[in-house]
Amino acid sequence: MTKSIFRDKLKNSDVAVTFRDIILIPGWTEIEPREVDIKTRASKRYHINIPFISSPMDMVTESEMAIALARQGGLGVLHRNCSIEDQVEMARKVKRAEALIIKDVVTIDPEQSIAYAMELMQKHNISGLPVVDNGKVTGILTGRDVRFADTNLRVKDLMTREVVTAPEGMSIEEAKERMHEHRIEKLPIVNEQGHLKGLITIKDILLRGRFPNAARDENGQLLCAAATSPFDLKRAKELDNYVDIIVIDVAHFHNSNVFTATKKIMDEVSADVVVGNLGTYKAAEDALSKLDKVAGFRVGIGSGSICTTSEFTKAGAPTLYATAQVADAVRTMGADVPIIADGGIRSGGEVTVALAAGASAVMIGNLFARCKEAPGTLIAIGGRYYKQYRGMGSPSAMAKRFSLDRYGGSAKGLPEGVEGWVPYKGETSTVVQELSAAVQAAMGYSGAANIPELWEKARLAFLTPSGAAEAGPHDILLPGEAGERV
Ligand code: XMP
Repeated sequence: MTKSIFRDKLKNSDVAVTFRDIILIPGWTEIEPREVDIKTRASKRYHINIPFISSPMDMVTESEMAIALARQGGLGVLHRNCSIEDQVEMARKVKRAEALIIKDVVTIDPEQSIAYAMELMQKHNISGLPVVDNGKVTGILTGRDVRFADTNLRVKDLMTREVVTAPEGMSIEEAKERMHEHRIEKLPIVNEQGHLKGLITIKDILLRGRFPNAARDENGQLLCAAATSPFDLKRAKELDNYVDIIVIDVAHFHNSNVFTATKKIMDEVSADVVVGNLGTYKAAEDALSKLDKVAGFRVGIGSGSICTTSEFTKAGAPTLYATAQVADAVRTMGADVPIIADGGIRSGGEVTVALAAGASAVMIGNLFARCKEAPGTLIAIGGRYYKQYRGMGSPSAMAKRFSLDRYGGSAKGLPEGVEGWVPYKGETSTVVQELSAAVQAAMGYSGAANIPELWEKARLAFLTPSGAAEAGPHDILLPGEAGERV
């Protein structure tokens, strides 16, 4: 046989499997789906209670989605298709949404006008302000004090001067008792010199009870992640003041300039740094050997529902293939780095296949873009509701210009994403519940009580194209579908 370069290139080539090719083979089980624990890690240091992370895309994750998803136990990654100030403000909103003790307290000076106090309360959506004079708490002003007040008065004219406070170190239980005893809803924490050190509110205590599964940091604030370009050190540093995880957001992380720039960011921030996107064993191996602070891998290239990267460039690494490749590298190198499988996931079953291949969590755009808390516009077409969804490499997303560099080719005019509409699904909590139930059921079939057990026990098999077709409903006309399945 004549020597063929082409044949050599294909010899021992991998099969780049996708979710659609694979099925989970049921195994012996001793647990019921409701007993399956789906807690996991989003990065080296941060645990989440469900394995779902929303994509940093401008039609998916702003503060509303990040708050809703963290309250359900997951994590939102704030998009970067906006100014640094806007993204930092989103992060602040997530961190302010709840806390055991609010550290970043909004206060007011006693000489300020009531009009200004009302403006502050409205802007930050809060119902009261500690009054602080030279660092010392001298009063408290609540919504009730100002409701029908003359807005030209000063804060000192209407504030309550006898402020009930708590010393530093008071437990939440004791704080609750003190608030009950005095029938108050806000308790400023002060040090021995009377300086304000924090604030405990009834609202936060109630929220803890309402969302017991929420993903929170050690201060009881919701976990928050945000995306940045590797070349935007300023953005990364500003975000670092608020977020727990910084996600390096490029389509192809395995790139020498990207490595150098990421290293700088890693040296300057204290947040966990998750890097991506990666598609191969070699990319993970290089990242682990050249960058010593990798706290997570975001993997998958070209599988997203809005991606045209692989169509236009013929380059890509399907999410499932990428997950398996990176998981092999992590295991072989003995590293402890969680993997986030990103793109192309349509169901809880596919989430489970990604986890079975070695992921700790999945990243989803499409299914979360359908939710009320996603920023996209809601429209009605033919009696049904849809929400706007677009790739970050789509022409309209690129027109905003803040994340142009995610898709290098696109900067030269090649769009790597599309825009369109996805069916409206209602609240994020509904989507999370459906996904969680499906993941728990699928893990039950595999006999796995938790995600690490799934890594060991799950058995996968290839599906033939006819098997894939048989795996969905068939030979039946489904109500309301009329040939359309989205
Ligand atoms: P799903 O399938 O959940 O995928 O919609 C979301 C993921 O897709 C990636 N993404 C893109 N990929 N062109 C691409 O090639 C794009 O315009 C684009 N926008 C987002 C991203 O990884 C996201 O998490």
